[in-house]
Amino acid sequence: MQNRVVVELASVPQNVAVARLLAAMVAAQANFTVAEVDEIKLAVSEAVTNAVIHGYGSQPEHVVRLEVTLFDNRLEVLVEDQGRGIDDIALAMQPAVSSDPDRMGLGFCFMESHMDSLEVESTPGRGTRVRMTKKAGSEHLARATGS
Ligand SMILES: Nc1ncnc2c1ncn2[C@@H]1O[C@H](COP(=O)(O)OP(=O)(O)OP(=O)(O)O)[C@@H](O)[C@H]1O
Ligand SMILES: [Mg+2]
Repeated sequence: MQNRVVVELASVPQNVAVARLLAAMVAAQANFTVAEVDEIKLAVSEAVTNAVIHGYGSQPEHVVRLEVTLFDNRLEVLVEDQGRGIDDIALAMQPAVSSDPDRMGLGFCFMESHMDSLEVESTPGRGTRVRMTKKAGSEHLARATGS
């Protein structure tokens, strides 16, 4: 392990930006490209937004736990809330599925496409844990090999 930052964020929308910048600053310590750091920022924003809006129903007095770890050239991000949880994770992760008719239902799709791995664990009434990883420089590799 090269670095780890763990923070507890109040469940207010302002902390989406705080989480995003924190993840970006840790990512900047590895060989991520600017484009990759932007993807990490977007994925973290989506996960923290979900915790605030869906997990806690936009109530500000709760805690979102963010853990960002850098292992050599791989970043791991955990976003955890102790909110309402998700009944059907597979369904919630499908594109255009949202419990809110005013939302696009694309957050999990963005997380999945911008990161190398995405795992969601959730217990209704207990909370949700999102784990995402991304390896630095994999975009270069994909381009070079045409894969
Ligand atoms: N932390 C969470 N706690 C409770 N429910 C969640 C959580 N994260 C996601 N969900 C559920 O999963 C659904 C899909 O999430 P996703 O981020 O893909 O879409 P969305 O948040 O509804 O819309 P968008 O992200 O496009 O604004 C949500 O509508 C919500 O019902
Ligand atoms: Mg969302």
